[in-house]
Amino acid sequence: MIKKSVEDICNRQIQREGYSSILYLAMASWAETKGYSGIAAWLYQQAEEEKMHMLKFVSYINERGGHAILPAFEQPPSTFSDIPTLFDQVLEHEQYITESINEIVAMVSKEKDFATLNWIQWFVSEQVEEEAAVQEIIDKLRLVGTHNMYMFDRDILSLRAEGEPEAEG
Ligand code: FEO
Repeated sequence: MIKKSVEDICNRQIQREGYSSILYLAMASWAETKGYSGIAAWLYQQAEEEKMHMLKFVSYINERGGHAILPAFEQPPSTFSDIPTLFDQVLEHEQYITESINEIVAMVSKEKDFATLNWIQWFVSEQVEEEAAVQEIIDKLRLVGTHNMYMFDRDILSLRAEGEPEAEG
């Protein structure tokens, strides 16, 4: 049976992963309206991954005898200034999520909940991969410069295919 403190912090993470998903959906929608179909596709895929992350927490809490609670989500921004700034915001958000996962690691260690400590390791690795993937995009954006956005938009999905293995379900 999951402890209340662990259940609560995992429920908090459901909100954060779910918000990540709608934030990336909002970014994808904006990018699509600006004609960046490749960038939009990358963000739509990322939004799906975040939904899968949220569902992993839902399943885990319920499997351990807790009750996963689906929260209301704050409305994400609907407009973004430009593509490089958007990816800076994605990285900043992922760093926030990493910090949040680290807080769960610290909490379950303190609570001696070794099952959750073991389970959460998947997210620890996933955050390393996600931050690296977004950093790679930011580095590439610096290389191509804002005058070559057509090529960047065309190539971004191949970047994901090479650099980021599909997350397991
Ligand atoms: Fe689920 Fe990108 O953090």
